[in-house]
Amino acid sequence: MKKIVIVYWSGSGNTETMAKSVAKGAGDGGGEAVLKPVGEASVDLVKGADALAFGCPAMGDEILEETEMEPFIASLSAGDVGGKALGLFGSYDWGEGKWMQDWKARMQGLGAQVDGEGIITQLEPSQEALNACYELGKRLAG
Ligand SMILES: Cc1cc2nc3c(=O)[nH]c(=O)nc-3n(C[C@H](O)[C@H](O)[C@H](O)COP(=O)(O)O)c2cc1C
Repeated sequence: MKKIVIVYWSGSGNTETMAKSVAKGAGDGGGEAVLKPVGEASVDLVKGADALAFGCPAMGDEILEETEMEPFIASLSAGDVGGKALGLFGSYDWGEGKWMQDWKARMQGLGAQVDGEGIITQLEPSQEALNACYELGKRLAG
């Protein structure tokens, strides 16, 4: 059984809702889903995963949340994520998704196999976005 580690930050709950859909898909897909807010996650947890999903809304000015998520992502090396399937997801509001494009490029730079373009949704997740998160979880478990 594949261990799918899902790490997220969410201030007002939108990205958390997405994270839960990823976890549901991963479980329904036959994987072991480990869902953690970033404050409870560790690099070792990432290292021990078969596949990964990270979630964070657009914050600051098109950047990751600065106090928890950014330091966590910055602490990861190619040895932790290289070669692993990785889904990215998050909510935004007024921007055009630049934070996700930058995040994808950054994770690819560490050698992660990033799934698609990352799942983004404006504010409260649309049903379409939640379905995409669920399917992402299933793919990561497969
Ligand atoms: C401090 C702050 C900065 C934000 N910066 C951006 C931004 O640069 N671009 C954008 O599209 N949305 C931005 N937003 C909107 C959030 O991404 C949006 O409200 C999102 O739904 C929050 O997700 P969450 O409920 O998971 O915290 C910002 C929100 C806050 C509170």
